[in-house]
Amino acid sequence: MNGTANHTAYGRNTGTGMENLTLAVAKGRVLKETLPLLERAGIQVLEDPFTSRKLILPTSLVHLSLVVVRSTDVPTYVRFGAADLGVVGKDILVEYDGAGLYELLDLGIARCRMAVAEPAMKPHSVHRRLRIATKYTNTTRNFFARRGLQAEVIKLYGSMELAPLAGLADQIVDLVDTGGTLRANGLVEVETIAHVSSRLVANQASMKLKDQSIMEISERLADCLKV
Ligand code: PRP
Repeated sequence: MNGTANHTAYGRNTGTGMENLTLAVAKGRVLKETLPLLERAGIQVLEDPFTSRKLILPTSLVHLSLVVVRSTDVPTYVRFGAADLGVVGKDILVEYDGAGLYELLDLGIARCRMAVAEPAMKPHSVHRRLRIATKYTNTTRNFFARRGLQAEVIKLYGSMELAPLAGLADQIVDLVDTGGTLRANGLVEVETIAHVSSRLVANQASMKLKDQSIMEISERLADCLKV
């Protein structure tokens, strides 16, 4: 299914002459750092996304609504045109294949790195092949394959740092920001795979059918990145 960009899925007739737009933002740190950026761009979210039970939030731009979804769902919402725009980490775009999305801007927020880490006191591995625990299985497989290393990649959904401590894996691939979580668990970073920040992405059909509104939002954000 292709994105049907002239839909009004969240249905407000704005009467502004601007096309309705929906912006999907990833929950958590990305949302926390996106809100001040939107404010600086002159866009206020009219209900607090951290306390409101509403899933579709109006903004001070009558034609723009915000939806807050899991980070892994942002590319899906945008690819299928259920959202025209999205804000999501580069880690997610690489892992879940950003095909079908236009990456408009590096917003420079929620910066961190994706890294390989292992116990500082490395135990002798009991596994025949190097075992890596991660939620980024595609990125990890590609990274080790490029190195010509055979690795067994185990999918986990959280608390990655526990895996080497519990003997589940030799190494992990996870996001590192301050390094505090690694240190607290006796792990050290051995290699950086990628530098990560949040990106503004757009649905391809929306880019054609709603170009005026999309460029207006994109330029507002780009302008406040310059200062
Ligand atoms: C992330 C990441 C690490 C931690 C790194 O987890 O998965 O566990 O932050 O941050 P640090 O280097 O500053 O300690 P997050 O708390 O976002 O939750 P998650 O495990 O659900 O991804």
